[in-house]
Amino acid sequence: MSTVMITGASSGIGKALAEHYVQLGWQVIACGRDKVRLTALASSSSLITTLAFDMTDKQQVQAIELALPALDLLIFNAGDCQYIDDVLDFNAERFERVIQTNLISVAYGLQYWLKHVNQGGRVVFVSSSAELLALPRAEAYGASKAALSYLGESLSIDLAQHNIHVSIVRPGFVATPLTAKNNFPMPMKITSEQAAVKIVQGINKGKHHIDFPSHFTCIMKILSCLPFTLWRRLAVRM
Ligand SMILES: NC(=O)c1ccc[n+]([C@@H]2O[C@H](COP(=O)([O-])OP(=O)(O)OC[C@H]3O[C@@H](n4cnc5c(N)ncnc54)[C@H](OP(=O)(O)O)[C@@H]3O)[C@@H](O)[C@H]2O)c1
Repeated sequence: MSTVMITGASSGIGKALAEHYVQLGWQVIACGRDKVRLTALASSSSLITTLAFDMTDKQQVQAIELALPALDLLIFNAGDCQYIDDVLDFNAERFERVIQTNLISVAYGLQYWLKHVNQGGRVVFVSSSAELLALPRAEAYGASKAALSYLGESLSIDLAQHNIHVSIVRPGFVATPLTAKNNFPMPMKITSEQAAVKIVQGINKGKHHIDFPSHFTCIMKILSCLPFTLWRRLAVRM
């Protein structure tokens, strides 16, 4: 039986991924901080075991290594999005929190868990389409995801010799508790179940980059080809 470990599985995209892999008959290790939501998830299937810990706490990330079996798939999905609302009163603590959650915690996971990934296995990083383009108020979130994608691409090169594959997921807007906080239009938003289907399909195809919804990410990629001065002018008007 194949085994997948998913961080951030207590809600949103991670939870939908856990449910999807259960349907496929995989053993699922679902991680998060919220024990109540993790317990509710585990009660839905005997294929799910849960691990509750804070990804930003290196000792906790190390401690759960003892509970890990061999992994066929390791999905770094846990993340947070907080915006820099007042750029002249730059909130360095917020910046640090976002970078810590979305980037540094992944390095902790790599240090302690990567050795559990089987040869022929895959590591997946849930980044964001936000990394394709500089967006307003996204100084922290965008920087964390751009760095995460770079980390994934670099690892993809170094892990090739160890027969471990890497996929980087770059979703557009997905309806989850994370985006429920947003008070701006979110074009082409999809459900977390639709996102999970796209991610699993991309993994099965062995894709390096899993981008969806395709219309949205296509527009982002076209805009990212514009000279920065032109994009900046458009973005300032937005
Ligand atoms: N929704 C979107 O439109 C969208 C678009 C692009 C990329 N993404 C990315 O997709 C990923 C999942 O986001 P989502 O939209 O599904 O958000 P979500 O519903 O808020 O889920 C976030 C998950 O991350 C976990 N998490 C956050 N901080 C953690 C920490 N310090 N330690 C351990 N777990 C932590 C949460 O666990 P607890 O609640 O149990 O702490 C939760 O399970 C994120 O990386 C996000 O950046 C989302």
